[in-house]
Order: sequence, then structure tokens, then C-alpha cells
Amino acid sequence: MSMKSKYIWMNGELVDFEKATIHFLTPALHYGVGVFEGIRCYATDRGPAIFRLREHIRRLINSAKVMGFRSFPYTQDELVEATRLTVSVNGFDECYIRPLVYLTDGGWNLTVDAGRPGVGIAVWEWNHYLGDKALDKGIRANITSFTRHHPNVMMTKAKITGNYANSVLAKTESMRLGFDEAIMLDPQGYVAECTGENLFVVREGKIYTPPTAPVLEGITRETITTLARDLGYDVSESPVSRDQLYIADEVFVCGTAAECIALCEIDYRVIGNGNMGPVTRSVQQAFQNAIRGRHPRSAGWLDYVNAPVTNVLPAKTTASTVSR
Ligand SMILES: Cc1ncc(COP(=O)(O)O)c(C=O)c1O
Repeated sequence: MSMKSKYIWMNGELVDFEKATIHFLTPALHYGVGVFEGIRCYATDRGPAIFRLREHIRRLINSAKVMGFRSFPYTQDELVEATRLTVSVNGFDECYIRPLVYLTDGGWNLTVDAGRPGVGIAVWEWNHYLGDKALDKGIRANITSFTRHHPNVMMTKAKITGNYANSVLAKTESMRLGFDEAIMLDPQGYVAECTGENLFVVREGKIYTPPTAPVLEGITRETITTLARDLGYDVSESPVSRDQLYIADEVFVCGTAAECIALCEIDYRVIGNGNMGPVTRSVQQAFQNAIRGRHPRSAGWLDYVNAPVTNVLPAKTTASTVSR
């Protein structure tokens, strides 16, 4: 995977990829005080389109609020336009988008108030996060020995950079054991989520997903819930135990990076018949259509990069400020 692009948007300016650097003493790097988003842009018949951009930017701003930043340098509209601009100047038809807010210039006394937030937006080409075969064949997962965050320890509604040490511990363990992904239990012992995906269980034609308290309120989770209900499925939140995974007809996970992927084996137990099941397939199909502009829901969810800009750009960020 190459993370290379021409430009990265940093604090209101498009800078050359190589020059998008921060200092070793940036406090975010030392204490994990940053918040970020993961967004995808897809090729459609009407050119590149960013999936649920507004919802992602809203969650980014909410994550900064949860982290305690009292002021935020950009509005939602400004960051939406900055994201569209970053995709557009880099010329990708499809890409992953990574906005990041980081604590800079102070913060050594372990408060966010002593520093200020810096903001960057990078894009790169990134296809199949969980491997080329995952979309069709599904993946193998295990229950990790690392517990998901207690909501009063690390804030589960925010994509705080420091939170992800937990995901890295879990995923590293699972991959070293030969699995593709880790399933994390919450502090009460119920199924929470994977390291970067929410989880759904299918039993007797009904779809269940763990309640939101201990997990990230995934935008793909909400998308999948809507699409599954459109297809006529009953979708509800319910605590899920580890053994309910083993006896499920189907289990699938979803997230911006991973998209919608079947879990075909968990803890060495085959799920269903070991292949992607019919419910997962139909939901995955609807999702693939939605992200590529081929679904009735697409119109409300896609932000076309080449559509006229309607909002004011952040100061200093216009095509003319692109360094060459
Ligand atoms: C811990 C965790 N859960 C779930 C998700 C899925 O969220 P979304 O669908 O908004 O990408 C992610 C990815 O952002 C994540 O990091």
C-alpha cells in the first residue's frame, strides 16, 4: 500500500506530500491526544464521490469536543470543502481520506487547554483493508485477550488516537495467531466490536448488533442498519455473548476501511456453512450499490467531488495556494 499523494491539507494550506511534517515534540505524538476520521471516496458514473462526508466531519468535531478541545479552528462546512478540495487536487478517482486533529504547541502539563488543535487532511489509494479475498470469501477472527475500553476509561464515542493502542494490541495478537481480525469483548464480557469495525449477528433471519454504549457509533453501522431495514430485515440492538457468535447463522462486520465483510470462522468454530451467508450477501450488495451511486439512498449519502462548491473555503485554501 502506498500512502503517497501530491498534497496534504494542513491548517488551511495544501502542502507538498514530503513537506507535511510535524515536530518531534508535538504533544499529540507523546500522549495520544488527537482525534481523527476515516472516510472513503468512490468512483461513480458522476466522478469521485465521498461517502457520508458530512456525518464523518460532524463526528470529527464531536470527537474533538469529547477530547475536551474548547475551541475548534474550522466549521463543519469549511472542513467538508477542505476535504473535497484535497481529494480533487490529488486527482484520485477512489481514495481513503484521513482528517486528523492533533494537540500542538503545548500540552506538556497533560491538559488540552495548554495547547491548541492543529488540523490536517491526507488522502491515499487504499483498496481492500482486510485483504483482496475478504469481500467474497469472508475472514477468520478470534476473541482477543484484550478487553475493549470501559466508557469511563477511554471515550468510546470519539475516535481519539490514543484509544487505538487498544486496537493495535488486539489486532497484532490476532494476526500473530494467524487470524485476520480481533473481536473485542466489553468490560462486562459481552461482544463489543472489532478493532476498526462494528459487528452484526444473523439468527433466524433477524439481525442483531451490540448496543452503542461501549462501541463506536459507526457510520457504516448506521448505513448497514438502514439498508438492511430497506431490504425488510428486522435489525435490533441486543447484548451479544461470545457463544451466540458461535451458533449464529451469519456474522459480519462493517466499517469505512473494511466495508461489509463476513466472518466465516470465529475461535476455530465455523460460522454457518463457512461461506458468506445470504443475508450478509444481500446487505453487502446493497452497500456496494449505495457507495457507488447505484442505490436510491446514494443521493443523500454521496458528496460529488466535482460538483460546484457551495460553501466558503477555509482561509488560505484555494486552488491558487497549491504549491508547485
Ligand atoms: C473501533 C471502531 N469501531 C467501528 C468502526 C466503524 O466506524 P465507521 O463505520 O464509522 O467507519 C471504526 C472505524 O472507524 C472503529 O475504529
